[in-house]
Amino acid sequence: MKQTEKESQVKKNGEKELPSQGGELLDLRPRRLSEYIGQRQVVETLEIAIEAAKRRGEPLDHILFHSPPGLGKTTLAHIIANEMGVRIITSSGPALERGGDLISILTHLEKGDVLFIDEIHRLPKVVEEFLYPAMEDFCIDFIFDKGAHARSHRYRLERFTLVGATTRAGLLSAPLRERFGILRNLDFYTTEELCQVVKRSAALLNIPIDEGGTEEIAKRSRGTPRISNRLLKRVRDYAEIRGPGRINREVADEALRLEGVDEIGLTSLDRRFIETIIRYYHGGPVGLEAIAATLQEEADTLIDMIEPYLLKIGFVARMQNGRKATELAYQHFGIPYPDSQRQLSFPTRKRH
Ligand SMILES: Nc1ncnc2c1ncn2[C@@H]1O[C@H](COP(=O)(O)OP(=O)(O)OP(=O)(O)O)[C@@H](O)[C@H]1O
Ligand SMILES: [Mg+2]
Repeated sequence: MKQTEKESQVKKNGEKELPSQGGELLDLRPRRLSEYIGQRQVVETLEIAIEAAKRRGEPLDHILFHSPPGLGKTTLAHIIANEMGVRIITSSGPALERGGDLISILTHLEKGDVLFIDEIHRLPKVVEEFLYPAMEDFCIDFIFDKGAHARSHRYRLERFTLVGATTRAGLLSAPLRERFGILRNLDFYTTEELCQVVKRSAALLNIPIDEGGTEEIAKRSRGTPRISNRLLKRVRDYAEIRGPGRINREVADEALRLEGVDEIGLTSLDRRFIETIIRYYHGGPVGLEAIAATLQEEADTLIDMIEPYLLKIGFVARMQNGRKATELAYQHFGIPYPDSQRQLSFPTRKRH
């Protein structure tokens, strides 16, 4: 009873800021490290750390994951708790508005619990400062009164494991980053890995799919398992209503075309992003704020959701003075690459 109360209290806190997690395909999430596809080095690091902590009977070191959205950070946090056989309490940076929000979670933690803080780069500074001693010495310092009468009281916490997730490692303060024992970046998935994700999800969802259909969805998923799962569901709908009730390459292609996903997985916002650089700004370099203003989109959305994949596939290059569209991007859109851009082809080095 006590535990359920605690969990619901903490959940409320997290849910407030994470409505998208409600619609997340929780049932498609792998539950064990052995089911987790790809990210071999990260998985191996975790296997070793978990095994070692278990042998010593100690909680795991604090862990920070960073990656663009949908690559499996939240999934890993749940897997870690599951593998360690401990509870997971979830919250997020923006949900923890005041020091008290964090303190009430910390003081209710039991030994070994995993505290998962999503979007940890959005933690307010005043709250972050409570985390430093909590992470390092497992205590909180309360200060009473001010000035000459100030007294402090040290409250001992149970040893817990903080798992942080962020899409912007660069926005994390150095003192916070340094308090994590394991810092890992998740990279985009290969088409082969995404084929495994699609196959696994199709089996769980009971959707008949052949190799061609699997590959078509995988290669149009922008290297992201969340997108694979979402596209699989759209293609399933299409196959049931307009198609033969099973997914093959042709059905996948038709359904994804209807979704506005092109043959290499770019969405309309991806295309608008590149076309803006090419058509409005003559291929760049152009600042991200200017692109955002032209597209009438939030710069943050472009930085988190759009740019990382376009950088990864080499359609966009980040220069000292902004972003430019590469020759590959011009080719994809069938636009001739201007000679004036050729001299700018390589990112300039900073002069010292
Ligand atoms: N390695 C994997 N193997 C199989 N499925 C995966 C894997 N990683 C992620 N997924 C699937 O992708 C979905 C999105 O993953 P998850 O929610 O963990 O991403 P995230 O990195 O936390 O994203 P965000 O930054 O938006 O919070 C999950 O529901 C899960 O089904
Ligand atoms: Mg997440």
